[in-house]
Amino acid sequence: MNDFVIACEGLSKVFHQGKVSVPVLHDINFHLKKSERVAIVGASGSGKSTLLHLLGGLDEPSAGDIFIMGHNMSEQNETQKGVTRNQHLGFVYQFHHLLPEFTALENVAMPLLIRRMPKALAYEKASRLLDQVGLSHRLTHSPGELSGGERQRAALARALVTEPACVMADEPTGNLDRQNANAVFALMLELNQTLGTSFIIVTHDTQIAASADRTLRLMDGQLLAQ
Ligand SMILES: Nc1ncnc2c1ncn2[C@@H]1O[C@H](COP(=O)(O)OP(=O)(O)O)[C@@H](O)[C@H]1O
Ligand SMILES: [Mg+2]
Repeated sequence: MNDFVIACEGLSKVFHQGKVSVPVLHDINFHLKKSERVAIVGASGSGKSTLLHLLGGLDEPSAGDIFIMGHNMSEQNETQKGVTRNQHLGFVYQFHHLLPEFTALENVAMPLLIRRMPKALAYEKASRLLDQVGLSHRLTHSPGELSGGERQRAALARALVTEPACVMADEPTGNLDRQNANAVFALMLELNQTLGTSFIIVTHDTQIAASADRTLRLMDGQLLAQ
């Protein structure tokens, strides 16, 4: 398992709502290599977000094992999982989840400050990342003062500022027009190449899926090669 950035074996998830069981994922095996870009597609409700949450150690599986950089998540408590996530993963969501009362610079520096990095260094790194995503002129803007595309680029900078082994993106361009979606995705590809970051991208966008190294389809609880 140590050769993979993310891996899961025999992964299943059943949600329980009162007496009703909702099986969502069934016996999934998945292995992600360093620098690999995997797109996950599938109908709405097929379990894409559930899978991403599980692989990111944000939810508990009903069965099976999840490994993040060789750490078996079932052997870690919540505090240890938090450390594993902060050290190795970055998350980007459909809606940016930036904190509205902070500037772009502060939002991007946040994961570093959580790691107790000295403030000056955290801001310097955050500022460099914002420059890389083309937002050097927006450092002191709050999320409300940014356009949709700019907010997603800031969210991407925040996901990447800790230099994670893997970025997990859940429909990161779902809320953007074509031009902005392409720009955000081109940026992901570029960062993948320069930083060696792996990406798992859940997307409806066939153009984006086509430029990944592999596309997998979630259907009937199974993850199938396209
Ligand atoms: N916390 C939950 N409790 C119960 N059912 C859930 C929960 N989260 C997701 N589900 C169900 O699991 C299925 C997959 O959801 P989701 O992973 O969000 O799908 P997708 O991201 O592919 O649209 C859906 O039927 C959804 O209703
Ligand atoms: Mg979803």
